[in-house]
Amino acid sequence: MTQTPAPTAWTLAVDRADLSRVTVAAHPLPDLVDGEVLLRVDRVGVTANNITYAVLGESFRYWEFFPPQPRGLDAAWGLPPVWGFAEVQASTVPGVTPGRRLYGYLPPASHLVVRPDRVDAQGFRDASAHRAELPSPYNAYRLTTGDQAYDAAQEDLLILFRPLFFTSFMLADQLEDSGYHGAEALVVSSASSKTAYAAAFELHGKGPRLVGLTSPGNVAFTADLGCYDEVLTYDRVHDLDPDRPTVYLDLSGRPEVREAVRARLGPRLVHDLAVGLTSQTPNAQSASAVFFAPVQMRKRTQDWGRDGLDARFADAWRRFSVAARDWVDVTVGTGPDALRAAWLDVLGGRAPARTGHVVAMR
Ligand SMILES: NC(=O)c1ccc[n+]([C@@H]2O[C@H](COP(=O)([O-])OP(=O)(O)OC[C@H]3O[C@@H](n4cnc5c(N)ncnc54)[C@H](OP(=O)(O)O)[C@@H]3O)[C@@H](O)[C@H]2O)c1
Repeated sequence: MTQTPAPTAWTLAVDRADLSRVTVAAHPLPDLVDGEVLLRVDRVGVTANNITYAVLGESFRYWEFFPPQPRGLDAAWGLPPVWGFAEVQASTVPGVTPGRRLYGYLPPASHLVVRPDRVDAQGFRDASAHRAELPSPYNAYRLTTGDQAYDAAQEDLLILFRPLFFTSFMLADQLEDSGYHGAEALVVSSASSKTAYAAAFELHGKGPRLVGLTSPGNVAFTADLGCYDEVLTYDRVHDLDPDRPTVYLDLSGRPEVREAVRARLGPRLVHDLAVGLTSQTPNAQSASAVFFAPVQMRKRTQDWGRDGLDARFADAWRRFSVAARDWVDVTVGTGPDALRAAWLDVLGGRAPARTGHVVAMR
């Protein structure tokens, strides 16, 4: 008599000490206990933001969202979080029914067990004990049916841009809210990144001049977006206007670029905000402040209520997504090999700025 093989799940993990070492582990599907739901991860994206989660995995506790041990991997391995869609495969929780589709923070794996709490028409939160102390916005899973920004025809744009655009939207809001710190110019590094140009899209034409800094290979792409008044390569920081009060929005994290901007602008650099680190060099401690979207999100949830914030975000997203669909070439791969290839491509800085890596997980 032949035995039917146990259904298997898979998990991609990276060596926490060397992010270019990747493994894919096969393991059995977990058994659910009361209160748990099994999500089948369906479709996710990989951008520089996911690499940043890994670079900051220890200091910002990103490794703790999806521990490797239940998947048969030891603690030397880390599961870099990704964003995308999942489907409820099995459920012990009333109101969370199999077949429902959700957007949220997911492991680079075929499956995830969550413990839904605060279940409502919009979705739920994962109340798993190991996530309780981690920033709460990452623990929300949003049903496509309760989401004002959802459009089935635009899933790949949501996969690639949603958390990034949310950051950009909150960043632009915070800058506007603070009167741009008195600045007449905003200088943005890694201007070709999705988070940077989405912020530029939100800020363009509102007052301050927008200057993008980027690599030579990304100048044409960045200039063509039309979100920046001027685009300079990193070696042309000396062309910044030293008489204009300026805010530096640093998404690259390159120490030498921050130093050059400081040297050029001196006291006219009125605010220096660390937003990202596409260069994979943690450098935020040398900035005057660090931007963390959940902080401004909490403020606006208090000011506008959750529904008010959702409605404003959905409006902004609709305007942005019309423009952004022409700014990205979505590349779709399938399964763990495609996920590994996308990870290594983005990690190595080989992905052209126009490319958006999406992976169908099976
Ligand atoms: N603070 C927050 O709350 C928050 C939220 C979301 C995102 N972020 C951060 O914003 C940054 C951008 O994320 P994203 O997902 O929008 O990026 P993305 O679209 O994937 O960015 C691609 C760009 O990043 C630069 N880059 C990519 N790989 C590189 C490498 N290996 N070495 C050097 N530069 C590289 C290049 O830009 P250039 O040639 O123009 O430099 C490239 O065109 C990330 O660091 C992310 O973590 C922060």
